[in-house]
Amino acid sequence: IGKLKCAPAEDGGHIGTRVMLQGWTHRLRWESKKLLFLELRDGTGYIQAVMSGNLCMTKDALMLNREASVSLYGTVCSDERAKGGMELHVDYWELVGSSPAEIEMILTHESNPDILLNQRHLVIRGTKASAVLRMRSIITQCFREHFFANDYVELAPPTLVQTQCEGGSTLFHFDYFGEPAYLTQSSQLYLETGIPAVGDCFCILPSYRAEKSSTRRHLAEFHHIEAEFAFIDFEDLLQRIEYLIADVVDRVIEKGGDLLQVLNPGLKPLKRPFKRLTYTDAVKFCRQHNIYKDEATQTHFEFGDDIPEGPERKMTDMIGEPILMIKFPMTLKSFYMKRCPEDRALTESVDVLIPGVGEVVGGSMRMHDYDELMEAYERENIDPAPYYWFSDQRKYGTCPHGGYGLGLERFICYALAQHHIRDVCLYPRYRGRIEP
Ligand code: 4AD
Ligand code: MG
Repeated sequence: IGKLKCAPAEDGGHIGTRVMLQGWTHRLRWESKKLLFLELRDGTGYIQAVMSGNLCMTKDALMLNREASVSLYGTVCSDERAKGGMELHVDYWELVGSSPAEIEMILTHESNPDILLNQRHLVIRGTKASAVLRMRSIITQCFREHFFANDYVELAPPTLVQTQCEGGSTLFHFDYFGEPAYLTQSSQLYLETGIPAVGDCFCILPSYRAEKSSTRRHLAEFHHIEAEFAFIDFEDLLQRIEYLIADVVDRVIEKGGDLLQVLNPGLKPLKRPFKRLTYTDAVKFCRQHNIYKDEATQTHFEFGDDIPEGPERKMTDMIGEPILMIKFPMTLKSFYMKRCPEDRALTESVDVLIPGVGEVVGGSMRMHDYDELMEAYERENIDPAPYYWFSDQRKYGTCPHGGYGLGLERFICYALAQHHIRDVCLYPRYRGRIEP
């Protein structure tokens, strides 16, 4: 007897055949004492199974609850009303693993978010959570396909490190066999060392930030999609970022199928080029549109101020399309960023802002002059010793180069129109949560 999936990859040819299906009881509906409709879930999708007569009258049937695992045997019938056009008429079945009745108490939407997060290992079986997880896999695949289609090489930098990349305040410290160490904030510095070895490269790895506040877009552990390119200029970098985002959106639309239609039918291809806005003009925009640095006192932003999450999102939502915000002041950005030749107070830096989510990408050209980097360490009070391998890039065949980091979870929030970042994680990590 052939095994069938609830949503087989290839359609057709199953109607009228006797098959076995294995999975979990997603829903149960007793039509009468002798007629049970069971919706089976196996990860590929759902199929309705019909059980009647003596099959429904066993102890196992009477005790059956949601989330029990079962093997069903029966004939595939065509059913116009059913999704996938198939229904299973069961002639024999076996209980594989029972599920206690309390499952009904756990999987209710009335529970508060924190209780649901404690039960996330069960909640992910739900229709929406499992759809998001499956789309996350597809979206990750779309990024890899973009990179491979453009001949980038995937590298795997270490995530246990002794260097900071994005400022000391968000580092997670730990004891590495008696030596002080951190969980990486970004794989960028290591990717930079990879370009003379393999050329254009990327990685998809977790990064860690000890973020003090937990907002709807901050995690303590997130998946970071990073890429690095040699012999490019700032304009090349901006175009690569724009191409990445627009191309991945196209791929997601193509591959997303029914899952995307359910979660976010509104996802549309993005128009290129994206709007560009310098930091300096963003400050002006905020002043003109009464987006304040401090609402209470109606204090305006000045050049040099960090534009925090709230006002930045207000500006982005007002503009209503993806923005490449460029040329941030040196004082606001990390030590490694290259200065603008026309104004050394500014950096060749870029953030991509997307309506509804805010910052999704951060990138820049990198300082590639050895002496300039040494000065930057000093200015930022960074001990250069643990960075010797990074500095060496500027000693052995330096070249203009740049790259970016994209927060996968933030991109998914945008692509799937999800409000909260923790809903797109298998098991989110943020301040106050480290279980399950
Ligand atoms: O802007 P960030 O801090 O830039 C870097 O880490 C660079 N070293 C990247 C590079 O050039 N290779 O982080 C990049 C992106 C952000 O735009 C955001 O999407 C995401 O990473 N990100 C977070 N996502 C979720 N939770 C957090 N706490 C995040 N911090 C950054
Ligand atoms: Mg950033």
